Amino acid sequence: MDTRKVILTGDRPTGPLHLGHYTGALASRVRLQYDYRTYILIADLQALTDNAQRPEMVARAIKGVLLDNLAVGLDPEAVTFVLQSGVPELAELAQIYLNLVTLARLERNPTVKDEMREKGFGADVPAGFLAYPVSQAADITGFKADLVPVGEDQAPVIEQTREIVRRFNRLYGETLVMPEILVPRVGARLPGTDGQAKMSASLGNTINLSDTPEVVRENVMAMYTDPTRIRATDPGHVEDNPVFAYLDAFDEDKALVAGMKERYRSGTVGDVELKRHLAEVLERFLGPIRQRRVRYERRAEEVREILEVGTERGRAAVSETLEEVRGAIGLPMVRVRRKLLTNGG
Ligand code: TRP
Repeated sequence: MDTRKVILTGDRPTGPLHLGHYTGALASRVRLQYDYRTYILIADLQALTDNAQRPEMVARAIKGVLLDNLAVGLDPEAVTFVLQSGVPELAELAQIYLNLVTLARLERNPTVKDEMREKGFGADVPAGFLAYPVSQAADITGFKADLVPVGEDQAPVIEQTREIVRRFNRLYGETLVMPEILVPRVGARLPGTDGQAKMSASLGNTINLSDTPEVVRENVMAMYTDPTRIRATDPGHVEDNPVFAYLDAFDEDKALVAGMKERYRSGTVGDVELKRHLAEVLERFLGPIRQRRVRYERRAEEVREILEVGTERGRAAVSETLEEVRGAIGLPMVRVRRKLLTNGG
């Protein structure tokens, strides 16, 4: 029997994953994949909560997100990839949990508030978007997750799951597993190439895991550095300089980075040399990821299989939880014979 604790984590398929996803979430997934029973959810229904007008975009992004996860080294023999829309039991759990949160509590969630502002909904917030933390509580509890590794901006969402679990267990008896959040070490949040605090596709300041070497190089050479520095001989600022944030995150040679910071501060290294070095460092990191991606792209059938088999396995796990939840509430169980479900076939 597998006695390992359970991890559930997920991505919204809305486009290619980038370096910020890597430092914020993917790196800890890769590190923990053999120590925990890991489920990775491709949250297409959650992606639709703010992309209802763009379903093709979401559908198209599913395969890319799966490939991004495989490319960074998640082992399909070890982890289970699940497509959210393939597990309708999650929607039923979410429907039940919706009664355990207030509208005011949903509106107070800091993550949701920030995202609503970023997406510019104005007064037209889709109800499904406001309630996505409830659907995410269904994801987390449905898989009986002990641990949820996410980026720090997701912390309030996981906190809301914990409140729902507490409320459910108090009302209906100890049923749901209480999840813990695992946020990566401080400094894991990567700024954008333009120096904004967050790397994000909607801000157009990303370096994607699937970018070609040429695109990466161009992006790095155009990066924001230190606006107060006119000439290479001027003393420069290392703080709030995204080039150094990236070097801290991706350059293994810490002594070399420390030396470069020193030289930057004293005005003896120019932006061009610095950026050339960063481009090399990123290429060393992204090269193997790109190669692995190409290998999987060549085996399309196998990749499809990974998601199909994983989704089936995920569905079995969530169905079990849903039965327990229905039982705890005392919902009448109407047994539908398998024959009817499969339409006699
Ligand atoms: N909301 C998460 C994000 O935007 C994605 C997600 C969906 C998720 N379901 C999840 C994360 C369950 C952790 C657990 O990144």
